[in-house]
Amino acid sequence: MSKIDLKVNGHAHTLDIEPSTPLLYVLRNDLGLQGPKFGCGLGQCGACTVIVNGAAVRSCILPASSVKAEVTTLEGLAPNGRLHPLQQAWIDEQVPQCGFCQNGQIMTAKAMLDKNPHPTDAQIRETMNGTLCRCMSYYRVQTAIKRAARTLADQSPASQKEVVA
Ligand code: FES
Ligand code: FES
Repeated sequence: MSKIDLKVNGHAHTLDIEPSTPLLYVLRNDLGLQGPKFGCGLGQCGACTVIVNGAAVRSCILPASSVKAEVTTLEGLAPNGRLHPLQQAWIDEQVPQCGFCQNGQIMTAKAMLDKNPHPTDAQIRETMNGTLCRCMSYYRVQTAIKRAARTLADQSPASQKEVVA
């Protein structure tokens, strides 16, 4: 066992764990964050996706001790209970079916939109390609991402009209 420091969703933690423990286990079992899911445990399905250093990463195969940057989980997208536009779009488009993959879908989409706020359909498909959904929600995922991108564009300072008194 060894002590590791981990910052998650704005909160700093010091944990006494085996260094090889996957980040997913620490998030779910030690920190009680149930957003990231255990799907394959092999880095192949995307259900466990979180964001580290701006990138969508698969926390089931990432040793917690190797993480030096802040981790954002699904819970971190809605500080103070205010939904992120992606989460709202997921509701508006009624994306989930069983829901198990949806953490991975939203977190992968979040990392994409942070880097590319106006993705084309082809770019969305390419980015989301490896995040598997056995319920085939892919079309609704794409529609919701485009809806969220529009909302984010509307909220950006550049889109705010100057109000002249
Ligand atoms: S549970 Fe991590 S990629 Fe499948
Ligand atoms: S909604 Fe069921 S696996 Fe994606």
